[in-house]
Amino acid sequence: MDDISATSFGFFLGGSDTSSITVTFTFYLLSIHPEIQDKLREDINTILARYNGQITYDSLNEMKYMKQVIDETMRIFPPVPILQRVCQEDYKIPGEDVIIEKGTTIFMPIIGYQHDEEYFSNPEIFDPDRFSERFGIMQTKIALTSILRKFKVTLNEKTKVPLKLDPKFALISAEGGLWLNFEKLPEIVDF
Ligand code: HEM
Repeated sequence: MDDISATSFGFFLGGSDTSSITVTFTFYLLSIHPEIQDKLREDINTILARYNGQITYDSLNEMKYMKQVIDETMRIFPPVPILQRVCQEDYKIPGEDVIIEKGTTIFMPIIGYQHDEEYFSNPEIFDPDRFSERFGIMQTKIALTSILRKFKVTLNEKTKVPLKLDPKFALISAEGGLWLNFEKLPEIVDF
């Protein structure tokens, strides 16, 4: 009975309330940021138009701005604002004169971290764009997509395996260079 009760409790609280809380708080933030609400609606309509208005697994996955809005809402209002752990061994906090003894219950203030200027600039501002794909990731994706569509990439024999990293550079760099072969694929799928 204990197991059944615990599982049911977990299912309702962990699996249902968390989502409904997230929906509620998202609506709250969208209601006080109508420009973001409009942008999200526009994005939803554009994507659903490609799927005959159907909400499907794929159409939802395409809603990147929606994901940013949800992430940002959960940053500001984490549905589980405090997590709890039990210390498994005596632990001295580095640089402090404090020892957390084995068996002590620890509360981790997730909501505190997520509103900390050290990790998020202007933490009180609702800005879904903090979770947008960074320009660097975008251009990396573009490069990989354009090349992989047309070429098979293999290792050139001039590259030493395993790679030896060159300690002289601030950015990661392989000693002797990283040589690759790009073999043009016979069939190019063009849309
Ligand atoms: C927006 C929705 C959700 C949020 C914000 C959320 C949040 C969380 C958080 C913060 C934890 C970690 C708790 C901890 O480490 O102490 C967790 C764990 C867990 N959640 Fe969710 N959850 C969501 C949806 C769901 C759903 C839909 C289910 C299942 C139907 C679910 C099942 C679980 C389970 C089983 C764990 C424990 C995992 C483990 O300890 O290995 N959650 N969730």
